[in-house]
Amino acid sequence: MKTIIEPFRIKSVEPIRMTTREEREQLVRDAHYNLFTLHSDDVLIDLLTDSGTSSMSARQWGALMQGDESYAGSPSFYRFKQAVDRLMPFNYLIPTHQGRAAESILFTVVCKPGQKIPNNTHFDTTRANVESQGSEAVDLVIAEGRDPESLHPFKGNMDIAALEDFISRTGVDKIPLCMLTITNNSGGGQPVSMENIRQTHEVCQKHNIPLFIDACRFAENAWFIKQREPGYADVPIEDIVRKMFSYAEGCTMSAKKDGLANSGGWLAMNNEDWAVECRNRLILTEGFPTYGGLTGRDMDAIAIGLEEVVQEDYLHYRIASTQYVARHITDVGVPIVQPAGGHAVYIDARRLLPHIPPLQYPGQSLAVELYKHGGIRGCEIGTAMFGLQPDGQEIPARMDLVRLAIPRRMYTQSQMDYVIEVVQEVFEYRGSMRGMKFVRQPQVLRHFTGHFDYID
Ligand SMILES: Cc1ncc(COP(=O)(O)O)c(C=O)c1O
Repeated sequence: MKTIIEPFRIKSVEPIRMTTREEREQLVRDAHYNLFTLHSDDVLIDLLTDSGTSSMSARQWGALMQGDESYAGSPSFYRFKQAVDRLMPFNYLIPTHQGRAAESILFTVVCKPGQKIPNNTHFDTTRANVESQGSEAVDLVIAEGRDPESLHPFKGNMDIAALEDFISRTGVDKIPLCMLTITNNSGGGQPVSMENIRQTHEVCQKHNIPLFIDACRFAENAWFIKQREPGYADVPIEDIVRKMFSYAEGCTMSAKKDGLANSGGWLAMNNEDWAVECRNRLILTEGFPTYGGLTGRDMDAIAIGLEEVVQEDYLHYRIASTQYVARHITDVGVPIVQPAGGHAVYIDARRLLPHIPPLQYPGQSLAVELYKHGGIRGCEIGTAMFGLQPDGQEIPARMDLVRLAIPRRMYTQSQMDYVIEVVQEVFEYRGSMRGMKFVRQPQVLRHFTGHFDYID
């Protein structure tokens, strides 16, 4: 069958408030053309992020009622632990309220000023948590991972030669751990191959550097391994997942992605000394070790989410729907980062709007137009987000993209068809779109709260 049907039925629905183009023009003008400022009920299809936006299953909603809110030793924690251990069997498990809390605890404990952490590509919060310890976050993704047109099947891979070289130049004593982000979010949701995980492990082991996995989209990564890496087509997803983690000494996780939950995360590791210190830190910043930053019911929802996220029908539909959007918009000539990642499609706004220079934010202009035309909320990832330097100078970002992140199990194929149609129509009248400017901007993270307007 050509049609990949959603492997679920809808039991509970949430109405979408329909709006007209005129209404949306007014709403986005009132929001100073900043899509983060919009009220989400003024959005028809919200593709701002795939994080924490998953629809939970009937089993997960049922499990919420089983949640035990005891301060210590809750059975919810042990169900959560069993579900995590089944896939990622590390010796110590530390529950946190979301992924960045796990990162903050880990790096506070392991990093010292002047040290360096290599990664394929650090996600923003990972980088910020490393840097807040006075350490340096170093990205060593393969060259193909930086080329938006390369069709390499594992563009998230670590550059192994560059890692070796980095270790010998930096010195092992300055590298408390090495990370691998699967899939590589900041690089377009691109996967890392099993062979590359193994090789990264081999290099780390040789130098006695612990390898940690940023595991947010581990199931999507496993699906790509099954589809694209020779020798895995017949291996069950759970076995692929266990093998991926067998090469690591620990992981950080945001359950808001492949935990299929609306909040939550964890930190896991084998090193007892680190675990003791991390738990002490957890008690200070999050909570008691058997709940950390989570309620009992959250832990139950995650436990079920972890069972559901590795089901092949789910992963088949999940990745097929991202690729479906990518294929249909590229068919009419819309430039995107190739190949489509696991959780999002990244439109290359700089190539789509060559008449708008990077310092006039083509990504922002396109994101606003997608909202005006069809009520779709995407996210500019480009010069508006990264262009402002600490010294106040402004330089073009490496790329100007609009990310359409697809929430898990939330939208149907007809809603994705609508997204495709809106993108195609906007593409047709792209020549009339105008550049934008900031009329108000904070000095840090200006894309969240800044005000934009059109250039006359
Ligand atoms: C790769 C990666 N690491 C870490 C995080 C941080 O997780 P959280 O948003 O739960 O703090 C994210 C969130 O998007 C992510 O994509």
